[in-house]
This record gives sequence, structure tokens and C-alpha cells, in this order.
Amino acid sequence: MRSAELVSMLTDSRRRTLELQADLTDEQMRVPLVSIINPFIWEMGHVAWFQERWTLRHLRGLDSIRPDADALWDSAAIPHDTRWDLPLPSRAETLQYMQGVLDRVLEHLPQGEAPEQEAYFHWLVAMHEDMHDEAFTYTRQTLGYAAPPGPGRPVGGADEGVRRGPGGPPHEALGDVEVPGGEYLLGACPGPGFVFDNEKWAHPVKVEPFRIARTPVTYGQFAAFVDEGGYGRQEFWSDAGWSWRERERAGHPVYWLRDSGPWQLRHFDQVVPLPLEVAILHVNWFEAEAWCRWAGRRLPTEAEWELAATGLEKRRYPWGDTAPEPEQACLDFRSTARPAASDLAAGDSPYGCRQMIGGVWEWTSTVFEPYPGFVIDPYKEYSQPWFGGEYRVLRGGCWATRSRLIRSTWRNFYTRNRRDVFGGFRTCPGFATEAQRHGESRLAPAPQSPARPSAPGGQHFSSKNEPKGGEGV
Ligand SMILES: [Fe+2]
Repeated sequence: MRSAELVSMLTDSRRRTLELQADLTDEQMRVPLVSIINPFIWEMGHVAWFQERWTLRHLRGLDSIRPDADALWDSAAIPHDTRWDLPLPSRAETLQYMQGVLDRVLEHLPQGEAPEQEAYFHWLVAMHEDMHDEAFTYTRQTLGYAAPPGPGRPVGGADEGVRRGPGGPPHEALGDVEVPGGEYLLGACPGPGFVFDNEKWAHPVKVEPFRIARTPVTYGQFAAFVDEGGYGRQEFWSDAGWSWRERERAGHPVYWLRDSGPWQLRHFDQVVPLPLEVAILHVNWFEAEAWCRWAGRRLPTEAEWELAATGLEKRRYPWGDTAPEPEQACLDFRSTARPAASDLAAGDSPYGCRQMIGGVWEWTSTVFEPYPGFVIDPYKEYSQPWFGGEYRVLRGGCWATRSRLIRSTWRNFYTRNRRDVFGGFRTCPGFATEAQRHGESRLAPAPQSPARPSAPGGQHFSSKNEPKGGEGV
């Protein structure tokens, strides 16, 4: 990869990080101690620390420009709740450290072409920063701050992207499409470009023929469930889901408001009418599951999701292999007012599924597990600590995901209770079988070994966890 492309990517990631905090007051930078967020000032220093760790200290053998960097920003070593008590540098000093690290990184880039191993770590850093930028964005929503600056920023939902059509019965929008089953290669295929260890490598799975909604579930469709008392009817909830609902005393999705009139939505620091035709955002896995039971639907497995998105030919994106365009996918913070779920037909998958990339991350039924032959990458804390248990796979990216990051094989993962993140869902008709409820997809013999070695670098680093999903990525 050419160094000039790396420079462009790294400076663009950093530009966005700075934009996401530049308009916040010092008071707004001081955030409450909540398990799902990080102090902004800490998170800013952390992204620069991560860059320094991998591309100056690991790649170049250089010392940190701050002797206290590990003590301040090593997310694997510093428990979440103690980040509020650290002797963090001031905002100005943090910005200075961020700039100092980036300057040093760019200074050391080779002329012309960057070797593959080197490019890998710069990609890792950019992806890491892009993911934190998504976290900065949903944290602004969590805290009720203004919508982030960016192209197409709307105020008060008056933007043309917020549609207010009538609500309809569940899954009526554009109906379902038929996806022929077959042996599908789930996961990333070896080749150029960055992939995380959890995507490696493509392996055969047998997928039975299935039907899946053309569009994600909309606010209007979800409102019908809420208005029928769905949050108070235990028969629609799993035991774990009902426990969550009772614990949280949830009677409707987070950020929904209503006095005597129709539902409204808190959208960052504004209250807007519920955009009925837009894909629902900020529902957790339990809420998605309950809606499914009410509607006689189910979540797709991640193998079904990926097959519906890419076709047997395994396109990089639903529409093909060309980079996302605005008429195909809502990405890159292009607008906080997302298009109606029926829009962006140019981004349809081979089977006619719409908005599978961008808009909202889509929950699947699949437990986040390693693919067969999993080999851990140098950034050991990214995937392995989170396999199994409460984590479920989400696919497709959201409006705050960078287009350089997302692709059809990307696996995101959050615990089932997270509704602060940019999660929504699409469904398949029929109730889930036991296997479908857990999203099992390893139905074919696994390959004996990965198709090629994992990322350069090997297993060099500490195995302590880096909290993921709001606590850091
Ligand atoms: Fe991180």
C-alpha cells in the first residue's frame, strides 16, 4: 500500500476524532461515571496511545513521548471505573500528545510503498480510531449532547431524510425475499486489505433455503408492538430478556417519549417526531427478540445475514465490489437523519435486500464465537476475550461507521443488553428453531487449518482484556 494512502487515512481518522469533541465545552467533557461510556478526555488520549503503541513502539522500537502513557491510557490494564480518577493531562496537553504522536508516525512512514506488515498496523490504528469515533458519537446521544458536526447535519429532524409516513403492520414494507440455500463460505477470503482475526477465514457452512425481509424493521413497525403492550407481555420475551426488562423497568425503547400525543424521539439534544419509515435504532437484542416473537418472526443467523448480503459469489458489499456511494449506503456520518428503510435501492444485495450496509448495525441470533481454525492476531484483546457468553454478532455497519472500515464479512459484537449503541435488526419469517435461536452456523466440516498465516507479528502481547463496546474498542 502506498504511504500516501496511509497518510490520508490516518489524518482523516484523526480529523474526525478532533471534530467530535471540538464543539464540547469543558463541562461537557466531564462525563458521569457510567459503565457504557468513557471519559472523553481519556478516550482521546487512548486513541493516540494505541497509535503510538503499535506504529512507533512496536513497529519502530521507539519509546513513548510520554513516560506515563501506559499508566494513563492502556485500556487493557486500567479498569473502566478508575479512568475517572487518573491524573489525566489537561485537554490542551492531551491534544498536544495526540498531535505529537501523529506527527511522529507520519515522519517515520517510508517513501512510496509501505511494506505489508507495516501497512497492517497503520490500518489497525485507523480502524481502532474509527470505531472509537463511532463510540464518541453514540456517547453524545447517550448524554443528550448536540448531534455531531458533519456533512448533512440536521437539527430537530427537519432534514429531508426523516420521513414521517404512516405506520404499517409488521414486516409489510417491501416484504421478504427468497434466498436459496447451499454451501456458503462464511467469513473473509484471504486477499489484499485489512481483516480482523475474528473474520478469518472463509469456511463452508450449509445454509438451508430461507426468506428474509428486504428491509430492516422500522420505527413504525416497532411502535405497533409497543402500542399493543408488548413490553408488558411476558410471552414475547425470553427469560433473560424479561429479566432485563424488569430490571430496567423498560416500557418502550430508550429515547422514546410520549405525553398525550404520538411517540417522539430524543435525537441527540432535540426531540423529534418518531420517524416511522426509518429503520429503528437503539434497540437491544432482547427487544429485537421480543418484537420477533410478537410478529411471528426471527432474527437471521449471521450465516444467513452474510449470504443474503453477498450472494454465493461473496461480494465485498451487497451491490458488488466497488466502494460505497451515498445512494447505496448511509455511512461516514453523512447524515444523522437517515433515509427511509425503503430508500437506497442502488445498494440492494443480489437477492434484493436493502440497506444491509450502513444505517443500523443489525443484530443476528449468533453468539460471537471464533471461526474454525481461529488464530489470534497481535492485537489480542480485540476478539478473543469476548467470545461466547453474552455477546451477539451484529452486521452491516451504521450511519456513523466509516466506509473504509465496513464490508459484508465484518463482525461486530455487543452484549445483549446494549441499546445505547447503533443497533437495529431485520428478520426472517417464522419462529426460530433452537439452532436458529443461537445462530449456529457450523454445519459443515471445518477446515483443518487457516488458509494462510494470520496477521504479521504473532502473539507478542499481553492477554489482558480491553473493554469493548462503549468501554473502549
Ligand atoms: Fe480502544
